Amino acid sequence: MEQTFIMIKPDGVQRGLVGEIICRFEKKGFTLKGLKLQTVERSFAEKHYEDLSKKPFFGGLVEYIISGPVVAMIWEGKNVVATGRKIIGATNPAESAPGTIRGDYAVEIGRNIIHGSDAVESARKEIGLWFPEGPANWQSSLHPWIYE
Ligand code: PPS
Repeated sequence: MEQTFIMIKPDGVQRGLVGEIICRFEKKGFTLKGLKLQTVERSFAEKHYEDLSKKPFFGGLVEYIISGPVVAMIWEGKNVVATGRKIIGATNPAESAPGTIRGDYAVEIGRNIIHGSDAVESARKEIGLWFPEGPANWQSSLHPWIYE
């Protein structure tokens, strides 16, 4: 079953949106396979965003991510990478549709509340970075009610 890496950024934690965000993924039918609240070091944030190191906003993005605790999660389910990105909404909250997390709760791109892996391969890489111990080994009892 597919897995994705989701991170609630420091603004999402500070604004008390953790429960709301977890609720949206749970109600959709996805399964929580990993969860931790942590404040990351600068070098760790730079590693997570290493593909963006040449972007002009890289420094600000790293400062933002290390500014407070984040909630790192692994979610599992059919097409969870692409569907997770739809639940999150467009990167720029000005373009995120109402009903998405960013569309409902964010105003600007530099404080967009949440990160979700953009592809199955990047999800694998990000889960390996944030959860070197691997995902929790359990299966939701709701599976027979969610999948045919
Ligand atoms: S890009 O430029 O197309 O590669 O960037 P994009 O895929 O749209 O976004 C990648 C991540 O960079 C964050 N981002 C920004 N942060 C701060 N300021 C600005 N201007 C900015 N532009 C993009 C964006 O939120 C993405 O972060 P994650 O955590 O992956 O969602």
